Amino acid sequence: MQGRCCGVGKKTGHTVKVVTTPNSTNERLALYQQLLAAGGTDIDVFQIDVIWPGILGNHFIDLSNAANGAENDHFPAIVENNTFKGQLVAMPWFTDAGVLYYRKDLLEKYGEKPPATWQQLTSSAEKIQAGEREAGNDKMWGFVWQGRAYEGLTCDALEWISSYNGGTVVDEDGKITINNDKAKEALTQAASWVNTISPPGVLNYAEEEARGVFQSGNAVFMRNWPYAWSLGNSGDSPVKGKIGVVALPKGGEDGSHAGTLGGWQLAVSKYSKHPDLAADLVMHLTSREEQKRRAIVGSYNPTVASLYTDEDVLNANPFFGNLYDTFANGTPRPSTATGARYNQVSNAFWNATHNVLSGKEDADTALSGLKSN
Ligand code: GLC
Repeated sequence: MQGRCCGVGKKTGHTVKVVTTPNSTNERLALYQQLLAAGGTDIDVFQIDVIWPGILGNHFIDLSNAANGAENDHFPAIVENNTFKGQLVAMPWFTDAGVLYYRKDLLEKYGEKPPATWQQLTSSAEKIQAGEREAGNDKMWGFVWQGRAYEGLTCDALEWISSYNGGTVVDEDGKITINNDKAKEALTQAASWVNTISPPGVLNYAEEEARGVFQSGNAVFMRNWPYAWSLGNSGDSPVKGKIGVVALPKGGEDGSHAGTLGGWQLAVSKYSKHPDLAADLVMHLTSREEQKRRAIVGSYNPTVASLYTDEDVLNANPFFGNLYDTFANGTPRPSTATGARYNQVSNAFWNATHNVLSGKEDADTALSGLKSN
C-alpha cells in the first residue's frame, strides 16, 4: 500500500500518515476485511462506509468516552446507524445523498424545466441530446449515472425503485420486498435509457466516469453525490457556473423523491497500538469546525445539522439549503436489517439490476429470481 506521508497535526503536533485505498467501496471493503481479520496494527483509523457498521463493527473500539456527548451534535439517524451492539463504533464524518445535476444553460436554451419525474427527465434528455447533436456535438448524451455492477448501482437502483414507492429491497424487519410491480416498472424504465439517452458504456460507469462525461460538457443530466459540485465548479471545469442541482425525480406523479443515504464514518481499530491518540484524531476530524472546512472546500455534506444554516457553507453550496430534506432524510440501504450479510444481499441485487440494464433478463425474471436467493 502507498502512504502519503505525513501530516503533522497543528493542534497536537502528532504525525498522521494517510494511506491511499481503492476508490471503489467494494474493493475498499475487501481490503479492510483482510487487514482487520489479520488483526494488523498498521492502521489506526479506518474511513468506513455508512453500510458497514454491521459488517465490521466487531473490529472497532467504542468511541463513547472520547466523544463524551459530542455525538449528539450529529444527525441522530447516523449515530444510531453507527451504534453496533450498544457501542459507538464510528463517528460520522460526512453524509451523502444521491442528487440530480443538470446543465442550467442547456435547459434554458431548450425551454425545459428541471424535471420532477423520470418521465420528464427522459423527454427533456431526448430533446436536448438530439438538438445538441444536430448543432454539432455528436458526443452529447442526455443522462449519465452509475451502471457498473457494484455498490454504486445498488444506490442508483434503490433510488429508482424507492421513487416508484417500490420499497427498499429488504424491509426493516428483514423481509425481502423486492419482487414487486413498482420495482419492475422502475428497472424497466432505467433499462430503456441505455443506448438511448445514456451511453452504452454507462453499464461500466462508477461515480468518476459519470462525472468525467458531465464535467467535460457532454451530458445534460447526471446522478451523483454532492462531491461533484465542488469539482464541477472548479477553476478549469468547462461547466463551471452552468450547473444546477435538484432532488432526484419521482417515479411518476404518485411517486416520491428519493436519494440514497450514503456517507463515511471514522472508526478506530481495536488492534491499534495508539487507540487514545487515534480517537482524539477522529474527534478532531469529525468536529463542527473541520466539517465546515470540508463542506466549503470539497462540498462534503456535514453531519452536524446547524452547518446547513451556516452562511459560508451555503455560499459555497447553495443546494445544501434547498435540499436539506434530501440530506437529513436519505433513503437508507437495508444494511441494518441484513447486518453482516448486507454485502451479499447488495451483490445479488446489483447483479440482478445489471442483468436487466444490459438486456440479459427482463425485470420480472431478474427480481423473482432474487426472491428465492
Ligand atoms: C459514496 C457513498 C457511499 C456509497 C458509495 C457507492 O461513496 O458515500 O455510501 O456506498 O458512494 O459507490
